[in-house]
Amino acid sequence: MTKSKTQTEPFILVVHGPNLNLLGEREPEIYGSLTLKELNERIVSKARSLGVRIGCFQSNHEGQIIDTIHGQRHSAAGMVINPGAFTHYSYAIRDAISAVNLPCVEVHLSDIQQREEFRRISVIAPVCIGQISGKGYESYLLGLEKLVEYLR
Ligand code: DQA
Repeated sequence: MTKSKTQTEPFILVVHGPNLNLLGEREPEIYGSLTLKELNERIVSKARSLGVRIGCFQSNHEGQIIDTIHGQRHSAAGMVINPGAFTHYSYAIRDAISAVNLPCVEVHLSDIQQREEFRRISVIAPVCIGQISGKGYESYLLGLEKLVEYLR
């Protein structure tokens, strides 16, 4: 996990789910042209302006996402998560979010309501304080803003 430095500021965990490691080359007409590294840089810079620290984590594996959420439960003040396709069926990630009892904002690059039928359902949304979808990489920045407002 890439972590930013100052220890006194609240720490926010940002989780990118499966296939988001391929951002930039993966269906850019849907997900945009930023790479994951460039996206993380924008998230870190937004976090600085909001006065929070960030740890960005990406995995293609459900269990690793769950282990990371568990592992950060005592250090994180909240989470921003793009669960990728897990959004639509992972009760295990949903349970992990609820188990750690941290405020969480769900974000999506694309507008999941305007795509295939199966994407319209989020099993994660009911355990989140909000969902931001369809604003490209800005969904993450808006998600972070929403979380920080909630924490204040
Ligand atoms: C996504 C939308 C999901 O349906 C898809 O499986 C993804 C990315 C998004 O950011 O738009 O992997 O979460």
